[in-house]
Amino acid sequence: MKRTTNDPSTWFDSAHHRSLGVNARRTTELILALDVPTHAQAMRLVKLLYPKVRIFKVGLQLYTACGPKIVADIRRAGAEVFLDLKFNDIPNTMASAAIEAVKHKAAMFTVHTLSGPEALKEVAKVTKGTGTKALGVTILTSICAHFLKDLKIQRSLSQEVLYLAQMAKRCGLDGVVCSVNEAALLRRKIKGKFIIVTPGIRPDAAACDDQKRAATISQALEAGSDYLVVGRPILDASDPLKAAQNFIRLCRGGFETRPYRRY
Ligand code: C5P
Repeated sequence: MKRTTNDPSTWFDSAHHRSLGVNARRTTELILALDVPTHAQAMRLVKLLYPKVRIFKVGLQLYTACGPKIVADIRRAGAEVFLDLKFNDIPNTMASAAIEAVKHKAAMFTVHTLSGPEALKEVAKVTKGTGTKALGVTILTSICAHFLKDLKIQRSLSQEVLYLAQMAKRCGLDGVVCSVNEAALLRRKIKGKFIIVTPGIRPDAAACDDQKRAATISQALEAGSDYLVVGRPILDASDPLKAAQNFIRLCRGGFETRPYRRY
C-alpha cells in the first residue's frame, strides 16, 4: 500500500519495531504538540486524546494566542502541560519566567541552553524541589550541520549538542531537547537521571516538513528518548485519534508505560 503522511493505517512497520528488541529498561511517552491557533481547537484535541495522551505541549503559537488560560484549562481536563516557550534571556529574566512556569504547574518547560550557564543555574535554582522540570533546548531539529558552519561553530553538530547538554546537566537542568541523531550519544556520555525529549519524529523519515534532523519512532526508542514530541503527523492526520494510538502503541513497544508523576 502506498504510504501517505495523513493515513495513519499505512504508517508503521510494527514487525520491524518488535524485532529491534530495544528499550527494554526505558519507557518512552508521546507528547502531542498543540500547534494550533485557537483555544477551542486545542481543547478539542485534549478532549479527544486525553487520557491516551497525557502530556500536551503548549508552544509559542498557542501561548501567544491564548495566554496562561490554556495551560490552566488543559490541567483542569486532567492532563499535564509541557510549556515549550524556549526562554532565552538574561539570568534575572529567565529566573523570573521560570517562577511563572512553576506557578502554572507546568510539568516541564524549555529554556535555550545558549542563554548560558549563569541563566541556566538561576532557572535550576527556581525549579529545584518543585514538580516542574526545566529542559534545555540544544540545537533545534530544524537546523542542519551547514547552518552551524555559517555561524562559525567549529564543533560537529553532535559534539555541539553534547557540549550544550553537558553544560545543562552541570548547571542543574533536568534534561534537554535534542534530535534523535544525538540522543544515543547523550545517553552514553551523560550519566544519572537526565530527561531526553526528541521532536522531529516522523512515521516516514521522507516526510520531514521543515525538520532537518527527523527520525522514526523505532530510531527514537533505540536511541533512548524519554519523550517524543509529535505535532503535524498527528494534527494533520485524517484520524488524529487513530494516529496518536498508533504512536502510543509503538512507543510502548510491548512494555509498560512509566507512571508519570503528577504535580
Ligand atoms: O509538527 P512537528 O512534529 O514537526 O512539531 C514538532 C514540535 O516540536 C513543534 O511544536 C516545535 O516547536 C517543537 N520543537 C522542535 N525542535 C526543537 C524543540 C521543539 O521541533 N528542538
